[in-house]
Amino acid sequence: MSDKAVLSWGKGKSAEFPVLEGSIGPDVVDIRTLYGTTGLFTYDPGFLSTGSCMSRITYIDGDQGILLYRGYPIEQLAEKCDFPEVAYLLKHGELPNKDQYNDWTGRITRHTMVHDQLTRFYTGFRRDAHPMAVLVGVVGALSAFYHDSLDINDPEHRIIAAIRLIAKMPTIVAMAYKYNAGQPFMYPRNDLSYTANFMHMMFATPCENYEPNPVLVRALDRILILHADHEQNASTSTVRLAGSSGANPFACVSAGIACLWGPAHGGANEAALNMLEQIGDASKIGEFLKKVKEKNSGVKLMGFGHRVYRNYDPRAKLMRQTCHEVLNELGLQDDRLFKLAIALEKVALEDDYFVQKKLYPNVDFYSGIVQRALGIPVKLFTGIFALARTAGWVAQWNEMIADPEQKIGRPRQLYIGAPRREYVPIDKR
Ligand code: CMC
Repeated sequence: MSDKAVLSWGKGKSAEFPVLEGSIGPDVVDIRTLYGTTGLFTYDPGFLSTGSCMSRITYIDGDQGILLYRGYPIEQLAEKCDFPEVAYLLKHGELPNKDQYNDWTGRITRHTMVHDQLTRFYTGFRRDAHPMAVLVGVVGALSAFYHDSLDINDPEHRIIAAIRLIAKMPTIVAMAYKYNAGQPFMYPRNDLSYTANFMHMMFATPCENYEPNPVLVRALDRILILHADHEQNASTSTVRLAGSSGANPFACVSAGIACLWGPAHGGANEAALNMLEQIGDASKIGEFLKKVKEKNSGVKLMGFGHRVYRNYDPRAKLMRQTCHEVLNELGLQDDRLFKLAIALEKVALEDDYFVQKKLYPNVDFYSGIVQRALGIPVKLFTGIFALARTAGWVAQWNEMIADPEQKIGRPRQLYIGAPRREYVPIDKR
């Protein structure tokens, strides 16, 4: 504790609150005793100024455009790690040594299959159901299949549940795709890496093997790393809030998936690609941005802006570079949408509206173009995000459950409805 913050209100009333220091980043005013000592609550819709927890997992400096997982810059992790290594780091706090890495990936690999009966869940959905609707249902249903890892107070149960979620998400996401495409489900292949196996389950069929291309596997692995965690964003906060009641991790991650689906959050990659298709041509950029800038048009430049970054999202830079690599590998250097995206970014970054509001490209501006080039259908983009973010969700959920200061999440409100009144019988209204 370094300092105190003083709150003054009314006629000469005041109270002092401790100011807590993090290892880096802004200090916070500890207002846990606010209501007890003053009878006041805070009002902060959208949590613009509210820290909901102490965390050691991810740090973002939105002004500088810095993202650290457990202290390591995202640029270094994206270049040097694979996704399971990053998932280990997020969960355990340290990078694994060789033995730990082999043990971790070995355990994940042994959990890639889903209970055979779970496959019947899929047939209950319409073929054209949105994959995110399927994922919310199937991931929530895992708690009905894996009863032996539901005791949230047992650290061993928690680790098994975490491994199951990380291991089964690629299988579940690929099955959502196959069901939609009308193709048979493909069993996981445990001789492949985490990401190559996912691509196998997506793109192989019983009559044709899929030969993973290392450049494309690396690109998808990087997408997973870049999306793995992002501190207390809406879906992670949803996972924590759901978990704060003692709900099991499968139910909590299902809640996170539901939240992620929205176009302001994980749904933005799908929306960004649809937006590019809609604009269609560089000559229409001016007209489109005019609409974006109209106050009540309801049109946004998808893949731009972020609650925390008021600078270039470091993930967007890496994603743009990955986009180049993938398109070069596939001989698609002249990809129409990539060229349009680059032109749109340039115009927006020079436009006063975006400069004034400090709106920069976020991770979703380019990730859709990469995924589309990899052959992933647009409707599955947010499902890929969910697959990746599962690593962060389980790490954050575990941190919360192990935190002795953890309480059920229960925000208060400023009530602005009718004061007490008496019931009026229906014939007198
Ligand atoms: N296009 C046009 N105007 C925008 C945009 C945008 N993409 N983003 C923000 N603004 C405007 C907004 O209208 C507001 O204007 P005013 O001050 O005149 O009312 C101002 O900029 C501040 O924006 P805000 O909505 O108050 O900011 P926020 O922090 O509440 O919202 C956001 C952040 C990400 C929801 C928003 O920027 C947005 O909707 N962006 C498009 C969707 C998107 O790309 N989302 C992906 C986020 S990154 C992936 C993830 O982590 O989920």
